[in-house]
Amino acid sequence: MIIVNFKGYPEVEGAKATALASICEDVARRTGAAIIVCPPMVELSKVASSVAIPVFAQHVDAKAPGSITGYVSPQSVKAAGAKGTLLNHAEHRLPFPEIASLVETCRGLGLISVVCADTAESAATIASLSPDYIAVEPPELIGGDVSVTTADPQVVRRTVELVKGVDPKVRVLCGAGVKGGRDVRAALALGAEGVLLASGVVKAKDARAALLDLVPSEG
Ligand code: G3P
Repeated sequence: MIIVNFKGYPEVEGAKATALASICEDVARRTGAAIIVCPPMVELSKVASSVAIPVFAQHVDAKAPGSITGYVSPQSVKAAGAKGTLLNHAEHRLPFPEIASLVETCRGLGLISVVCADTAESAATIASLSPDYIAVEPPELIGGDVSVTTADPQVVRRTVELVKGVDPKVRVLCGAGVKGGRDVRAALALGAEGVLLASGVVKAKDARAALLDLVPSEG
């Protein structure tokens, strides 16, 4: 599983978000890889109606639909076509009670929850909420050139161990600095079930080539 978080990079403003999502869809179709895209919120609906691969929100607010000017409810991203959402990203942290409430709301709505964590210990605490996925991402490695799987393999191993000890059904992803197939293979070898990445695809000169390199080859 490869989740591509488009973040708010200039490379994905406006129609460029749908263009990148289409490349992700094409690579998923050709390779059979499970690729999920998280476009900027303002492009979510358009991207979701343009591609067949799953589209996730980058964040939702712990707010019920109604008088919530400027907030984004889980219900509204579902109505826009999202199949899931990231929560508690390092660039958009949430207090624990809000994570708890949002995981519950997402479960009720049938939205897949991917909760980010900065350490193995915080991942273990989040695992008690039984989200669908936990993505461990050391903040200092985000956006860098060295993958978490190289810079800190132990945090991935330890996260898998602690999370599975709390709830074996929660799947673990890792992210930060992931750039190529070697990093994905290392993530899988460390016990993760996929990766969450951004700049390696969004800021690549050739996003299609970057994606093709990420997808583990068969055998
Ligand atoms: O959401 C993924 C992200 O935080 C990792 O970013 O650029 O290091 O792949 P990047």
